[in-house]
Amino acid sequence: MREFFMHSYSLIASAKINLYLEIIRARPDGYHDLVMVLQSIDLADQIDLHSRSDDSICLHCNHPEVPQDHNNLAYKAAALMAAKFPDAFAKYGGVDITIHKRIPVGAGLAGGSTNAAAVLIGLDLMWNLKLSDKQLQYLGSLLGSDVPFCIVGGTMLATGRGEYLTPLPVLDSFYVVLGKYRSLSVSTAWAYQTFRHLYFGSHVSDSLTIENLRQPVCSADMVSAINHQNQQQIGQLIYNDLERVVLPEYRKVQRLKEEFQRLGCPAMMSGSGPTVFALTNSQAKAQQVLESVKTAIADPDLELWVSRFTPSSIRVASFHK
Ligand code: C5P
Repeated sequence: MREFFMHSYSLIASAKINLYLEIIRARPDGYHDLVMVLQSIDLADQIDLHSRSDDSICLHCNHPEVPQDHNNLAYKAAALMAAKFPDAFAKYGGVDITIHKRIPVGAGLAGGSTNAAAVLIGLDLMWNLKLSDKQLQYLGSLLGSDVPFCIVGGTMLATGRGEYLTPLPVLDSFYVVLGKYRSLSVSTAWAYQTFRHLYFGSHVSDSLTIENLRQPVCSADMVSAINHQNQQQIGQLIYNDLERVVLPEYRKVQRLKEEFQRLGCPAMMSGSGPTVFALTNSQAKAQQVLESVKTAIADPDLELWVSRFTPSSIRVASFHK
């Protein structure tokens, strides 16, 4: 008979932005080899885990667009842990997962991935498994390309599908203004598949495409700017290949980026979008930029946030054993 362990953990799970995203190659498995610089920011969800007396996994979320069943990546993370560690699952039982969503959904900010990372870390603690970051990142890679980064977070160079990670010096002096239209979301699969079709198709049809394909790999300059903590250069070198397919399709997102730039801020779409971020070096400036964009665009569908770079992704806010 199972002893009932009443455990609960509350975790804070940070969003990420891509300071750099370059698509190197279309892979035969349908994915793409990338070079990315990923950065955690302090816009975060709260994930509460409570042990259950039975062996079910139940998920609740306050956001209407977030699936509350086995399609949710956080649910998949718990199911993966139960499958990989059947003895611990049998000993400790099921889990109630409650997601308090603050990170916008379908936004290019790794909201789903960071929730999944929090569940992996939370269950490792609840079930007393003592897994290493590497082991947790491996489990994360089975769930999604951004999950391994979300296990550790901070500032990282990511290659392969996104799962090979090299820590970079912590960048902590940036503030970031985020803008997202509530009603817009972009499918990551659509963005990559459209890019593949346009730039890695068998027939390169026009000279513009050929020119685009010749673009040099310049992540080395970004890495060097980060190593030297050169904020101005980092701002100049932010880059995202997926803008080339998303911005022409979503003119409002292009307009938002231009508005940030008009205010003098380096601005870029994060991941597959449609969130656009702008960099500033003070909270006051970030707040000022937010207010100016709100006035200039004056669309109730546009949501704006001020956030800050943070050196880690998941942290335990409280626990009860
Ligand atoms: O790994 P994840 O499930 O987050 O990826 C979502 C989609 O994004 C994949 O189905 C794939 O179409 C695309 N993707 C890609 N190359 C990557 C990461 C994601 O093509 N490196």
